[in-house]
This record gives sequence, C-alpha cells and structure tokens, in this order.
Amino acid sequence: MGSPGLKAARDKMVAEGVDEVAIETFAHYYRLLEHGETGMIPESTIDPVDMDSLDDVSVDDETAQAAIRTTAVIKLNGGLGTSMGMDRAKSLLCVRKGMSFLDIICRQVLHLRQSHGAPLPLIFMNSFRTSEDTMAAVARYDDLPVAGLPLEFLQNKEPKLLAKDLSPVSWPKDPDLEWCPPGHGDIYTALVGTGLLDDLLAAGYERVFVSNSDNLGAVPDPRLAGWFAQTGAPFAIEAVRRTPSDRKGGHFARRKNDGRLVLRETAQTLDEDKSALADLDRHRYCSTNNLWVDLRALKDVMDQRDNILGLPLIRNVKTVDPGDPSSPEVVQVETAMGAAIEVFEGATLIEVGRDRFVPVKTTNDLLVLRSDVYDIGGDFVLDQVAGELPFVDLDSTVFKLVGEFDKRFPEGAPSLRKASALRVEGDVTFGHGVQVVGDVTVEGGAGTRIDAGAVLTGAAGDA
Ligand code: UTP
Repeated sequence: MGSPGLKAARDKMVAEGVDEVAIETFAHYYRLLEHGETGMIPESTIDPVDMDSLDDVSVDDETAQAAIRTTAVIKLNGGLGTSMGMDRAKSLLCVRKGMSFLDIICRQVLHLRQSHGAPLPLIFMNSFRTSEDTMAAVARYDDLPVAGLPLEFLQNKEPKLLAKDLSPVSWPKDPDLEWCPPGHGDIYTALVGTGLLDDLLAAGYERVFVSNSDNLGAVPDPRLAGWFAQTGAPFAIEAVRRTPSDRKGGHFARRKNDGRLVLRETAQTLDEDKSALADLDRHRYCSTNNLWVDLRALKDVMDQRDNILGLPLIRNVKTVDPGDPSSPEVVQVETAMGAAIEVFEGATLIEVGRDRFVPVKTTNDLLVLRSDVYDIGGDFVLDQVAGELPFVDLDSTVFKLVGEFDKRFPEGAPSLRKASALRVEGDVTFGHGVQVVGDVTVEGGAGTRIDAGAVLTGAAGDA
C-alpha cells in the first residue's frame, strides 16, 4: 500500500493510459521523495577521475565502419526550452539559412548514411508536448524513416505533485499543465515500455548513440562508435574538460566504496563541498550528455532490475503554470539520463573536443550559433571558423525570452567571428550586418539601435 498521494497519482496515470512500466517507475521515485531522499554525494565518498582522450586512442577504419553500421541514433527532444521562454521543442528554432536544429540533425544523419553505407536510423524521443510539431517538421525528409523502425517514441508523462502534500495537482484552467515529462532519465523506461529496445535488438542494432537535440556538435561519429565497440563497455559518456563557466555545474567522479563512475550534479553536493565542486584541477571533466549504450547490456540490466533502473532522484520545484509565479508550487519527479553511468558495471568515459558539445541553453548560446562563428558545410557539421568562441552576455531582463531576443535581431545575428566578447546592457536593437570586433560592451535604453553595417570595436579589437 502507498500513501493517499501516491494512490491518487497512480489512479490518475492509469486513467490517462500511462503504461505499467512507467507507473511502477514513478511509484519507486515517489517513495524516495516521500522519504526525503536527497541523493547527496559527499566529497569524502568520491575520488576524481581521469580518462583517455579520443585524440589518443586508435580506432582502425574497419572497426569504425562496422560499428556505425550497427548503431542507431536517438535525439532527446522532449524538453520545452522553458528557460528560454518556450513552450515548444527548442529544436524547432531556426539556426541558419532557414534551417532549424531538426533540419540540421536530419541532414547530418542523411549525409553520414551516404558516406558510410550505414542504415543509421534516427529516432526522436519526444514528449506529449513536442511530438506533433517535431513530426510535422521532419516529414519533408522522405528518406529519413528506416523500414521497421519508428521516427519517434514518446516518453512518459507523470502528474505534477503539490509541494505541500505530494498529491497530484489539479489545474482545471489548463489540465495539460497538470502533467510533466519525467526528465531525460525516462529514456530507459520509455525504450522498454514502448517496445523499441526489443525492436532495435531484433533488427540487429547493437548500440545506440543518444544526445540532446539542442547540441548540434553531437554527430554520430564512426570513430567514436568504433572506439565504444572495441572497449566492450556496456555504457559510455563523452566528457569535456570543465572551464571556469562550468565551475558551478556537475562533474564525473569515482565512488570509493564500489569503484563505480558517478555523475555528481550541483544539487547533489553538500554546502561544505561546494569548494571541491568548483575545483577545476580536482574534478576536471563534465558531461556532454552524449552517450553510447550497448543495447544488449541495457536489456540485461533492465531485466535484472524489473525495469526500474533506480537512478538518483531529482526533485524539481516549479509552479504548476510556469508562466504564472503565483500559481501553486509543485514538485516534478525527474531523473537524468547520464546518471545511469553508476548502474552499469564497466561503464567508461572518453574525453572529446568542445566541438562535440555546443549546447544551446540560453539566448546567448543561440546568438553565437546564429552568427558566423561556425560554418555549416556539406556534411552539415558545425565547423568553428572563429579562432576563439566569443563570450556573449545579453541583458537577461531584455533578451532572455526567445521572442524578445528575436525582435532585437530582426535582420539576423551580428558577425562575431572577430569578437572575443559581446556584452549588451539594456534594450538594444541590432541592424543588418553589424560586426563585433574584440571585447565590446554596448549600453542602451529603450529604442537604442545599432545601425546597419556598423563595426563595433572594443579592447583587443584589431579593426
Ligand atoms: P535540459 O534538461 O537541458 O532542458 O534537456 P532544456 O530542453 O534545455 O529545457 P529547459 O530550459 O531546462 O526547460 C536536455 C535535453 O533533454 C531533452 C531536451 O529536449 C534537451 O534536448 N529532454 C529533457 C527530454 O527529452 N525529456 C525531458 O523530460 C527533459
């Protein structure tokens, strides 16, 4: 028997048609939540990790080619980009020349299929909020579907819980808002629940490359596929060196008691360990969320664990209507995909270049991607042509939401190829073909406009 809150949540999920695997998984995390589980990882229980770099490992062509032919690609596309004020999939946003994230992802895969004679199925993990738009947007790629496999699978939905008593929230004004996706850790539950894991195995696929749809650097690279295949590991994550801007974010470590790799997030770090978390010489690597999973190993682990992986719980507190801060406070029970590294014995890590990690989390990131810092060539892979990535900091009171951001760059992004930094304070609108050179700060009030063709030069500028 469970608490009244869990019973009500279960009944609500049954009535909504959520599958049994997902309901049992939700119930597992609900109980952890009720028991005040915090998922803390004290510094005294972990050691720092080291790893090989992709540059230093040798993978022969034959191994790479064989591996990419038995690899499937999954893009996580269930999130809504709420931190950029979106209520649709972020991947629908335009990146360049009328192409969205989704267009570029599809074209990267179609190009790789041609060059390697690999089937390379591309499958989106959508949520109930992102499915329709995403499928409409990719429908134009007639040759994208691979016989016998779907183009998408749906992740689960779960009730948002009232923070005060953990009962499912009721929001008759907009009942859709009573539900949320359970974070990207739900991928394992959804792969089993939808039958896709079995279908991929039956079709002869051995591994899957999974990454965020907002990271256009996450190309299903044959060399990495070959490296993963030759390690024989069940599970791997691509890591990058942490930089000062990653100081507050999570990192990899090795657990002392059983030697397993773990991913420690900020929310899992005790206050007294915050300085160790921020120590870039001690904890040197963070996750790209680019994962390689051996499908047979996943199937075995899910079988052994009755389909509940048992990932660390993330207690995400929001308001039921994200756009209305006065609406009731709710808890969303979430898990993160990369945290599964601790579940697989023999899981491994590989250091990759920053070119495989180009996440778009804010409109600052979006401006860089829309500018001329990267070229997009015939293989649709981002090619960084600027010597350094500019630091962009747009006034968040004006530019945070993507709709407002778009209004301030009506004719496209400025040239940032020669910029080291662009800071904008206040409300500024940029005309066509503005060039930023060196380290530039622009201050403005409502109505400030940078004229078309202007060259903004700051310290260290060379124009
Ligand atoms: P993030 O957690 O970084 O979220 O998701 P986000 O999309 O940037 O959105 P906000 O701004 O925090 O709301 C990383 C990737 O995981 C996907 C997202 O679509 C993104 O590609 N994701 C996230 C899912 O597929 N399902 C989820 O439940 C959550």
